[in-house]
Amino acid sequence: MVYVTRKEHFSAAHRLYNPTFSDERNEAVFDKCNNLFGHGHNYTLEVTVKGVPDAETGYVIDLKRLRDLIDEVIIDKVDHKHLNFDVPFLDGIIPTVENLCVAFWQQLEHRLPSGELHRIRVFESDNNLADYYGEPIELVRWSHAAAGHHERTTV
Ligand code: NI
Repeated sequence: MVYVTRKEHFSAAHRLYNPTFSDERNEAVFDKCNNLFGHGHNYTLEVTVKGVPDAETGYVIDLKRLRDLIDEVIIDKVDHKHLNFDVPFLDGIIPTVENLCVAFWQQLEHRLPSGELHRIRVFESDNNLADYYGEPIELVRWSHAAAGHHERTTV
């Protein structure tokens, strides 16, 4: 098995808060990331695909095709956006780097042949990053309209 990675960059704003928390608890849990009108990050996204190199092309995947897919499915949706408000597939999700990994996986997985997607890695800064390998986990969506009520989706 060979693992092939495409790296992309995007810039976006977000605010970390839970609508069911008090202002004090949001401040205590999320600190500077709870800033009312958000703040920005220069993110790096790495998408790793696995497979056996094709006998005729030597490719596991055509990286131009993978780049175009990542651009269409993720980068075009999140670059220069506010992740709390502008991105339908992130609606209600606390946009931590952990949750972004899971949400991006969900967007990409069904666009690639089964089993091809291996890892989503998101850097929020030089020092902070998260990895997701697709194990089923619960991704909670909080309703902005009705704090205290939320839907749960499971991947
Ligand atoms: Ni932040």
